Amino acid sequence: MANVTVVGAQWGDEGKGKIVDWLSNRADVVVRFQGGHNAGHTLVVDGKVYKLALLPSGVVQGKTSVIGNGVVVDPWHLLTEIGKIADQGVNITPDLLVLADNATLILPLHRDLDQAREAASSQKIGTTGRGIGPAYEDKVGRRAIRVADLADPEALKPKIERLLSHHGALRRGLGLPDADAGQLFDQLMEIAPQILAYAQPAWRVLDQAKKAGRRILFEGAQGALLDVDHGTYPFVTSSNTVAGQAAAGSGMGPKGPGYVLGIVKAYTTRVGEGPFACELSDEVGKHLATVGREVGVNTGRPRRCGWFDAVLVRQSVAINGIDGIALTKLDVLDGLETLKICVGYKIGDKVVDYLPAGMRDQAAAEPIYEEMEGWSESTAGARSFKDLNANAIKYVRRVEELIGAPVALLSTSPERDDTILMRDPFEG
Ligand code: IMP
Repeated sequence: MANVTVVGAQWGDEGKGKIVDWLSNRADVVVRFQGGHNAGHTLVVDGKVYKLALLPSGVVQGKTSVIGNGVVVDPWHLLTEIGKIADQGVNITPDLLVLADNATLILPLHRDLDQAREAASSQKIGTTGRGIGPAYEDKVGRRAIRVADLADPEALKPKIERLLSHHGALRRGLGLPDADAGQLFDQLMEIAPQILAYAQPAWRVLDQAKKAGRRILFEGAQGALLDVDHGTYPFVTSSNTVAGQAAAGSGMGPKGPGYVLGIVKAYTTRVGEGPFACELSDEVGKHLATVGREVGVNTGRPRRCGWFDAVLVRQSVAINGIDGIALTKLDVLDGLETLKICVGYKIGDKVVDYLPAGMRDQAAAEPIYEEMEGWSESTAGARSFKDLNANAIKYVRRVEELIGAPVALLSTSPERDDTILMRDPFEG
């Protein structure tokens, strides 16, 4: 039986939360392997809405949930999220949640830096302002504070000094006051016992789970076009969001991720700045935004909306090694007379069938569309492929053909049960 890795195949917000929640029924362990609380996952279970940012979506189902080493963890946020979900009746004990002891911490100074840079920059990225990028910079710069450091106050003090000597120059350049080493140490010591209660060598927990034949579900955050290498750089997040990261970001070998399920929205959205060839500012764009309720879970920012871009998703299928997709929000297209799908780009006088890496090419790419007839019938809440009208089926089949991957799941509403299973990802 394969493990399954769920990744966003566009710019995030494809509806991963619902699919992960649905699949976690069939899994024993759910693992986050990158990103941090910049992610926003909405789960609707029996009409109850759960909004998660850092906790793996499996917690709602009471599955062992692992925050892997590849995640950057704001420990204060983690405790707040645990508290909020407890108020909704989900009790998170150290039996349920495993926090990798080698995960990097997001500190208040990372948030300060993220927000100050966005405010000062003439080329904004449109980050979530949660400190994600600066925390990853410190990790790669080998000066980060990690979960395990909370257990060793004597070693932590010089680590903080070293970190602050780096941040001092950055803060002064941005007009921020110096951070106080003693205060940061005290703040960390205050939460250390609560955080350390969840800390474990996550790689070992996963190794044992693997040896016991348990099914592991990897939950990606953001999407392939926000990947720090493969995305629309520099308008990306600061982690690798592609499926390969599930191995490194959890401490499992390259075979760990198993079947790769790409989550694909039936149209395209993005939040934040950066190129978006198929963006629509007309009535159709408004339709997608309102009917699709396209507002960021985390930040409340409106999402930019546009037609389905098969070029991007085909690229995403390749770089993730996607075996099958879950197509979400097809019902948002209900009622549109004509549908367009982007099948190539015109860049100057060239026609290309992929998104080039250069920033200027990406910004200049103009979509080449093919048109399809829409449908007036409702597809919302359909529970079988046969319930879909002929044009909706044609649209789904054309998407499969253009991206080179089959539809394994079709989601027809935010409710868990409105999901059509075409092939079971756990069966490989
Ligand atoms: P950061 O991850 O906060 O550094 O933001 C970098 C870029 O990634 C910005 O364009 C954000 O809007 C985008 N981003 C980060 N997390 C998400 C997400 O969960 N969904 C969609 N976009 C995201």
